[in-house]
Amino acid sequence: MIKSLETPELQLLKPGVKAPVQETLLTPRFYTTDFEAVANLDVSANETELRAVIEELRADYNRHHFVRDEEFKQNWDHITGEKRRAFIDFLERSCTSEFSGFLLFKELSRRLKERNPLLADAFDFLARDEARHAGFLNKSMADLNLSLDLSYLTKHRTYTFFPPEWVIYTVYLSEKIGYWRYILVHRHMEANPEYQFYPLFRKFESWCQDENRHGDFFKALLRSQPQLWNNWRARLWVRFFLLSVFVTHTITVFERATFYESIGIHPRKYNNKVIQETNNTSARAFPLILNTNHPSFFWRLEQCCENSLKLTAINQSKRPKIVKFFQKIPPITAIIWNMLRLYLIKPIDAELTRETVR
Ligand SMILES: [Fe+2]
Ligand SMILES: [Fe+2]
Repeated sequence: MIKSLETPELQLLKPGVKAPVQETLLTPRFYTTDFEAVANLDVSANETELRAVIEELRADYNRHHFVRDEEFKQNWDHITGEKRRAFIDFLERSCTSEFSGFLLFKELSRRLKERNPLLADAFDFLARDEARHAGFLNKSMADLNLSLDLSYLTKHRTYTFFPPEWVIYTVYLSEKIGYWRYILVHRHMEANPEYQFYPLFRKFESWCQDENRHGDFFKALLRSQPQLWNNWRARLWVRFFLLSVFVTHTITVFERATFYESIGIHPRKYNNKVIQETNNTSARAFPLILNTNHPSFFWRLEQCCENSLKLTAINQSKRPKIVKFFQKIPPITAIIWNMLRLYLIKPIDAELTRETVR
């Protein structure tokens, strides 16, 4: 049985402005890439699909969606205790990852403007959407008397360099997993309105359509680069990225189990469903997907999670550094071992079924 850790007490940067969560492997990161290489991408192998997706983005279907209507205008002090802390943590992580997308897309659109106007337009539309998402989440935090200083974040976070291929794989996956995360919460709230404790969740249906379109753009871009899917190296990378995203997702869901339980969502069922759906969707873009039906698939994912929670508990303890070092060896070994076993589960070939999966 996995036990979630208590959400840590809030730390403030200044009154009303929350200090960003400490950076770990699991917190949303900020990325930079080789802009020159992206500008030089030849997309002619899949240009028709790419142009069609970009036209969808240009249409800006959600331009009137992100409006804080009457429902938001009330006092939210009745959300208290662990639920309040867990909700703020959920808002903060979501806001940071939306904002991280905004920064990367904005920079791509700026750098590509002269060199590759088609892709520059696309990234500009993506940045527009992510700015709206991040802004909306930050206003929700303000309803709980807190906000994130996004310009402080921009300056003080470290930027991780990813080559363009990794950006395409990981952003595709994060958009699609984002879609499933939002739509499943939305469907749950629709079926069980008694859990709708804050109106943000009502916005999720159209919101997740933005994420879906972003994912479709990255899918079209990925399929325009045959070296990203038609060889054994690409197959190995795809397995790695799918697995990393699923392990990270499992850990973040179980870490915030209290939050999901407070809105009536069973964390394990939710995690499994998000992963299965994202994996199936990925068959449209990737040459292979993982076998989530393998009997030990989810068990091993949860083993990674359980050991990651042990690591967090060791890190938070006040024992001497040397003791912590030795205590961390068994959980780290267990995570690596389980990830390796998961990686070696025979994947499912998506190219063979390409004509039937749509
Ligand atoms: Fe977004
Ligand atoms: Fe997005």
